[in-house]
Amino acid sequence: MFFDAQGHLTGFNKNISDMLHMPMEKYRGRHFKIVLQTLPQLKAQLENLLLYGQEINEELTIFSNKSILKGRLIGYPVQGLRSTIGYVVEIYDLSQEILNEREDLIHRLVRKMAHDIKTPLATIKFSVETLKYIINNIEDPEVQEDLKNINHEVNRIQSITNNYSKIAQLNKLKINIIDLAELCDETLLQFHPPEQVKIVKDISDEARLITADADQLRVVFKELVENALDAVGAQGEIRISTYPASFAREKHKDAICINISDSGIGIPSAVKDKIFEPSFTTKTHGTGLGLVFVKQIVANHQGEILIDSELHKGTKFQIIIPKEIKVQQEKDISWRRNTAY
Ligand SMILES: Nc1ncnc2c1ncn2[C@@H]1O[C@H](COP(=O)(O)OP(=O)(O)OP(=O)(O)O)[C@@H](O)[C@H]1O
Ligand SMILES: [Mg+2]
Repeated sequence: MFFDAQGHLTGFNKNISDMLHMPMEKYRGRHFKIVLQTLPQLKAQLENLLLYGQEINEELTIFSNKSILKGRLIGYPVQGLRSTIGYVVEIYDLSQEILNEREDLIHRLVRKMAHDIKTPLATIKFSVETLKYIINNIEDPEVQEDLKNINHEVNRIQSITNNYSKIAQLNKLKINIIDLAELCDETLLQFHPPEQVKIVKDISDEARLITADADQLRVVFKELVENALDAVGAQGEIRISTYPASFAREKHKDAICINISDSGIGIPSAVKDKIFEPSFTTKTHGTGLGLVFVKQIVANHQGEILIDSELHKGTKFQIIIPKEIKVQQEKDISWRRNTAY
């Protein structure tokens, strides 16, 4: 933005209206206190520059009802021959960079956690095998049942940690032919839904065999089914279906849809925009990472996620991915920088 020596808005570039969610044209020629009356924090930050001529270079956070902009605010006076003739204010939107850095940190944490859990787990597994050998002769069915349970759960933790350490290397896709019906059954074996929760599978033959990263898709199924189970609670219905995406939308001719829907509590509209944010959770014991992984994995598969949810009625997660994924080049992680004056 450009202001004259008296603090009147004299010009701006077109990004600024989108960034601040304000029709700037309407404010051309107006004093900055009027222009920024709905953004008191930005107004206060600019006072040092526009009233006292001090250069500014500081962090900026702007809350609007639509989004949060996090970035940097830079402002400096423009000197004429004898005096200041105006001021330049630049706003750098670094929201995406900050989000990327947070995601990167989370991936590193997950990789470390998975790595740290693996060693004690291997010890437990070894000890269980030894115990099994020692007490194999004990006929007590309860002891045998307990041993079986320990073994099963340890294997489960091992496969979960393996999956997580694999997601932490999200850039590297390992493409295989996958049978979605098998993957679905495998996922459901991990859960013990309450009796009154009905699970319906409907895997279409035309959307059953695809090429994708099996480990990563396993995580997608697990996270979405887990969320659906949380959403329905003690009773309800969860439906897992796949079908050619051409049924759904013309533009996705060679893609398939994976739908995971539930008849659960639904997602309040105020929460809908936040569910993919790292650490966002409405659950007492949630980590808020499940959907972060889902989003990343779907992006890795060049796909998209659509959500349809109605409060107290249920939620549908629809994933559209190519039936045959082309192996990706190394992911471009160059920062996207968005600047406005
Ligand atoms: N099927 C669903 N129905 C209702 N709300 C959902 C559903 N799926 C996700 N959500 C909302 O999105 C939030 C984020 O989900 P996410 O899977 O990322 O984290 P979480 O389930 O809270 O924790 P975690 O998956 O790490 O155990 C949830 O806390 C919940 O509020
Ligand atoms: Mg979850």
